[in-house]
Amino acid sequence: MSDQNDRAAWLKGPGAECSIKPGPRRRPRRFVLLGAPGVGKGTQAELLSARLGACQLSTGDIFRAAKSIQVCERSPALNTALDAMKKGELVTDGTVLDMVGERVGCLRCCGGFLLDGFPRTVAQAEALHALLKQEQITLDAVLSYELPLDTIIARLSGRRTCATCKAVYHLQSKPSKVEGTCDACKGALIQREDDRPESVKVRMAAYADSTAPLTDYYERQGLLVRIAAEGTPEAIYQRSLETLAARAGLSLDAYRGAT
Ligand code: AP5
Repeated sequence: MSDQNDRAAWLKGPGAECSIKPGPRRRPRRFVLLGAPGVGKGTQAELLSARLGACQLSTGDIFRAAKSIQVCERSPALNTALDAMKKGELVTDGTVLDMVGERVGCLRCCGGFLLDGFPRTVAQAEALHALLKQEQITLDAVLSYELPLDTIIARLSGRRTCATCKAVYHLQSKPSKVEGTCDACKGALIQREDDRPESVKVRMAAYADSTAPLTDYYERQGLLVRIAAEGTPEAIYQRSLETLAARAGLSLDAYRGAT
């Protein structure tokens, strides 16, 4: 794990410095990852990040990292956000946009980015559009991962996360070597609070009401790329890359090399 960027500037805010500074890129990649909770966005973001170099910027990860701040030191807005998250509800647009606005340096980063879990409403997408325009940054594409609901629920209910290093496992598709223990750091594997059935129901409803309309929004902008999220993580990653290369009119090698 030590050669992985700790994403400190994203997770802790603008006062923090990332452990690894990206080298110059010929063509930094800038994507938004869309899809229902549990479809596998985080898993794909990790693969894309490791191979294309762009940094995974997950708004959910910012909130989970903020849980380690003492309750008395949290702002009222952060406490309200963590409470909403636990129940599976969306955090208010205002709170999310304040957080992303503070971290605009991560959008400017010369390594590129993979926005994971943001935007999640049309209002957030419009605000992101304005922010990127102001920074003269363009998105390459919006990857929309799609999967039948019953498979998504199976992925969510079997997910286990390391309480220490946050590595993600799955009881069936990616079990740890020793049950309940992280392979990487030996931390305890736990179920996320919002992966309990009562929160999952609320999250799926919030997705259908607020996030699914984003596919139309980005389709109208000519940025939407639909990816079937069936199969192994590696197969989905290859499918993503092939689709992006075809869209750019490049061979797979040329697309990879253009980064
Ligand atoms: P967030 O952390 O963004 O969660 P999410 O979008 O609900 O997505 P998940 O992390 O649950 O799933 P994923 O798609 O990344 O799947 P994963 O790769 O882990 O947000 C959490 C909460 O924060 C929200 O509910 C909200 O309250 C708040 N929030 C965050 N951003 C917000 C915003 N912008 N606005 C408002 N509120 C916001 O995979 C799932 C499991 O499946 C894993 O166990 C994995 O190992 C397994 N798996 C993955 N791929 C495969 C495969 N191909 N085959 C088999 N198993 C697989």
